[in-house]
Amino acid sequence: MGQQKLLILIIPLLLLSPFLLHRCSGDSLGQVSSGDHGSHQSPPFHKMSRSGKFGYGPRRSLLASSTNVVNVNDYGAKGDGSSDDTTAFTNAWKAACSSSVAATLFVPASKTYLLKPITFAGSCKSNILVQIKGTILASPKVSDWSGTDRKRWIVFDGVKNLMVEGGGTFDGNGQIWWKNSCKVDESQAVTFDSCSSLKVDNLKFKNSQMMHVSFESCTNVEVSNLVISAPGSSPNTDGIHVTGTTNIQIDNCVIGTGDDCISIVSGSRFVNATNIFCGPGHGISIGSLGANGAEATVSDILVDTAQLEGTTNGVRIKTWQGGKGYAKNINFKNVFMKNVKNPIIIDQNYCDSSKTCSEQKSAVAISEVKYKNITGTSATSVAMEFDCSKSVPCSGVVLQDIKLTLTSGGSAKTICNNVKLTKAGTVVPSPCTS
Ligand SMILES: *[C@@H]1O[C@H](CO)[C@@H](O)[C@H](O)[C@H]1NC(C)=O
Ligand SMILES: *[C@@H]1O[C@H](CO)[C@@H](O)[C@H](O)[C@H]1NC(C)=O
Repeated sequence: MGQQKLLILIIPLLLLSPFLLHRCSGDSLGQVSSGDHGSHQSPPFHKMSRSGKFGYGPRRSLLASSTNVVNVNDYGAKGDGSSDDTTAFTNAWKAACSSSVAATLFVPASKTYLLKPITFAGSCKSNILVQIKGTILASPKVSDWSGTDRKRWIVFDGVKNLMVEGGGTFDGNGQIWWKNSCKVDESQAVTFDSCSSLKVDNLKFKNSQMMHVSFESCTNVEVSNLVISAPGSSPNTDGIHVTGTTNIQIDNCVIGTGDDCISIVSGSRFVNATNIFCGPGHGISIGSLGANGAEATVSDILVDTAQLEGTTNGVRIKTWQGGKGYAKNINFKNVFMKNVKNPIIIDQNYCDSSKTCSEQKSAVAISEVKYKNITGTSATSVAMEFDCSKSVPCSGVVLQDIKLTLTSGGSAKTICNNVKLTKAGTVVPSPCTS
């Protein structure tokens, strides 16, 4: 009886304060160096505050006895790096997800768990913490991706009040795939699909087959302290991909890959990326948008405090000709560029195809884009390029306090097509005047 009463008291507490039970482990990027590249330093950014914005209160161990800890080893996982641990993880997830009290799916340290494509599906009965200390390694057999969904390795699907953390590593074993890269069949590493009140903190992702972490149709997401790495030459290995997602904060991440560090595409609103270190890679991109005449809607994007080093682009908006919809209210501020090929670029003639893309009448409309306090060096003579659509020119583009010079010394230039720029403060190179 007494125990039942205690539970009656505890359960509402748990509902009110997800993850109250779990202590944070590891704190900073300082502990999670990016291994493979060695050249990354920790970003010079302040540490984020640990209390979440979306209802994740401070966590204490007071009530730890009523957490259901589900250790994958107890479900038969070997963690020897070569045995297939997929079934063990599936069964452990089932146990955690059906727990009537908050559950922790625990993946121990110093072990490597080999997984085939796997889906951790919700909805779950209680809040779930996935605590990953060790390494999760993708199966080296391409034939393991023969199921219906070839494009995903690990999927969290429809889970609410989920936190994934622990300092461990997702290793996509991408080397096997990059050799015969053909875009269509590659798999992305970790996907959060239709999750809400999601927190992803303090994890490493490396050598994904394609994108490393993708947020798709999620709401209320906090992402922090991720270190993502793959060789600069690896194809399509975006760091963090955001699509159809509302209210997402990405903070304090170090990303060096072979494609965009962060890519934000259609259906995404209220996306903040702060304290980002990017390089190597293709920079921070909104788009591409509007491929094959698609309608795209992207709005309320903030990139604040970022450093890009040796990337092909700095902050980029890219759309295909012939699309519909909009990309609006986009703010880039406090960005430092070091030897970046296209520091500031809007490209409305994006064409990533073997055929040339012909001139078309419609376009995704780009408006209310503000660049403020963007400084550093350009690796090419063009530091700012606004190549906007003839049919739907860019509007409301503001440049404030910009100073971009050539890496080799000397002054860079600006190229404009179909855009009216408003300038505030000192802007170098000078914007095109029309
Ligand atoms: C993004 O930043 C803006 C401005 O600081 C803030 O008002 C907003 O709440 C933030 N959104 C998210 C999802 O963190
Ligand atoms: C401009 O941005 C840099 C980061 O790139 C930051 O260190 C600096 O404080 C910012 N300046 C102002 C006036 O906010």
